[in-house]
Amino acid sequence: MGGGLAGHELAGAVSAAGGLGTIGILAPQDLRQEIAACRRLTDRPVAVNLLLPFARGAHFEAASEADAVVTFWGRPKRRTAKVWLHQCGSVEEARAARAAGADAVIAQGFEAGGHVRGTRPALELLAQVRAAVPDDYPILSAGGVFDAAGVKERLDAGAAAVVCGTRFLMTHESGAHPAYQARLLEARETVVTELFGAGWPAPHRVVPNAATARWLRTDSRGPGWLRAFHRMTAPAFSRIPVQAQFRLAATQRAIRPMFGPAAATVDGPPNLVDAGPLYAGECIDRIDDVRAAGELVRELASD
Ligand SMILES: Cc1cc2nc3c(=O)[nH]c(=O)nc-3n(C[C@H](O)[C@H](O)[C@H](O)COP(=O)(O)O)c2cc1C
Repeated sequence: MGGGLAGHELAGAVSAAGGLGTIGILAPQDLRQEIAACRRLTDRPVAVNLLLPFARGAHFEAASEADAVVTFWGRPKRRTAKVWLHQCGSVEEARAARAAGADAVIAQGFEAGGHVRGTRPALELLAQVRAAVPDDYPILSAGGVFDAAGVKERLDAGAAAVVCGTRFLMTHESGAHPAYQARLLEARETVVTELFGAGWPAPHRVVPNAATARWLRTDSRGPGWLRAFHRMTAPAFSRIPVQAQFRLAATQRAIRPMFGPAAATVDGPPNLVDAGPLYAGECIDRIDDVRAAGELVRELASD
């Protein structure tokens, strides 16, 4: 979970408890610091996630200080000597990632929170990818898992492991703003939209807020003119340095249709709770508490 939602506290707690904690994308110098801080919390392996529309050479260099690199949203290509996983939304993408040398793929279902590459339910995609690659090739399953029964179901269906985002957003160690977590505790539904697409015009699953209420009245994807503007300006926007993107995000207002992908973090601007994306997966209606991440890992892994 990028942009400060998953930093060293969360990744360290997950790894220390036996999971593979993952630090989300940040500016390269911040990634280095987060990896170093995570190493002080645990000597177990840790991963870094890089979003390909934003990742440059310096991000891959910084990420090489972690044990594994996870990539998402773009043409799979090996750019690290470390263990490499690519998150995919289709059988074709999984095949391409394997051909490009990925050590494993993550098959992301449509239930997932955040940016949604998958177009089919996670179990269906898992079965299709399982059938398309050799039996010993590891597939991780992402989307909709929030308890031990969900983990078991995916493992029984041939997943080597399970990837959880939304459940770990709702932990004490996540970087989500407390008001963001409070909205999610009340949430009973999500919507897939392209509203928060400045710099990254891709579908994402969010919980409704003032911005979605104002701009998704006629089309859940967002106004057509806004989506066209996002597509046109994305190459220039995605090159704006992260710090400048955060300064821009602080000026976002629900009434003004200029919405980037930054989410409300503990140390970020609180306006993003109503004028930014409240990323969450479909399983948010089954999550009623904010927990300790280590405790959750142990619970998810229990039989
Ligand atoms: C708040 C949030 C932020 C996310 N950010 C990223 C990201 O930066 N990179 C990425 O590969 N996936 C990201 N994802 C998607 C996850 O990798 C994963 O596919 C998803 O969380 C699984 O579904 P779940 O949310 O139902 O557990 C994010 C998900 C959430 C909920």
